[in-house]
Amino acid sequence: MWVRTASERDLEEIRALLIATWHDTYDHIYGVEKVTEITDAWHSIAALRPRVDQPNSEFVVADTGEQICAVAFASSKDGRLVLLHQLYVSPDAQGKGAGSLLMHEIIDSFPEARKIRLEVEETNAQAIAFYENKGFVEVGRTANCGEAESGLPALILERVLG
Ligand SMILES: CC(C)(COP(=O)(O)OP(=O)(O)OC[C@H]1O[C@@H](n2cnc3c(N)ncnc32)[C@H](O)[C@@H]1OP(=O)(O)O)[C@@H](O)C(=O)NCCC(=O)NCCS
Repeated sequence: MWVRTASERDLEEIRALLIATWHDTYDHIYGVEKVTEITDAWHSIAALRPRVDQPNSEFVVADTGEQICAVAFASSKDGRLVLLHQLYVSPDAQGKGAGSLLMHEIIDSFPEARKIRLEVEETNAQAIAFYENKGFVEVGRTANCGEAESGLPALILERVLG
């Protein structure tokens, strides 16, 4: 498995990975219909494409040689605070180190960063355990995870870097 920057030709596979992983992770929390509605909007090719060449951002995948098994997207306006917008490992690849690989890659990509922040659904115990294992701590909550007016409550976690 290796990590590389995502490109335009990966978008269909990334979209499929995100849809499958979102249903696996969130159907029991939000319900199938709501997850379908969110993934249709947030993970359309049109929504994903701008990430490929967005300035001050990192869009990376873990590639097994046969398939993309994980994806992450992060950005930083000032280089100091990194926002990790997404980290998703496909269900059959979880627990095999892909999430850790992408987390390291994201942090290494912002060498001036002092802090990394993310949002996580508060009942997503597996992800919270993973992030705590990586040194993240809860610093607050949001009522709108992902985007303004999403209506999805989440914890805000941060890790100090450097
Ligand atoms: C959460 C997620 C990103 C973790 O990635 P992963 O590839 O499965 O995790 P890794 O195999 O890299 O595990 C890394 C470490 O976290 C630990 N870890 C993973 N899951 C854990 C759990 N449920 N409880 C405690 N520790 C856990 C591992 O033991 C490992 O520790 P080590 O490095 O000391 O050996 C991944 O499982 C995932 O995408 N889950 C579903 C989607 C999701 O919730 N994404 C996050 C949304 S905010």
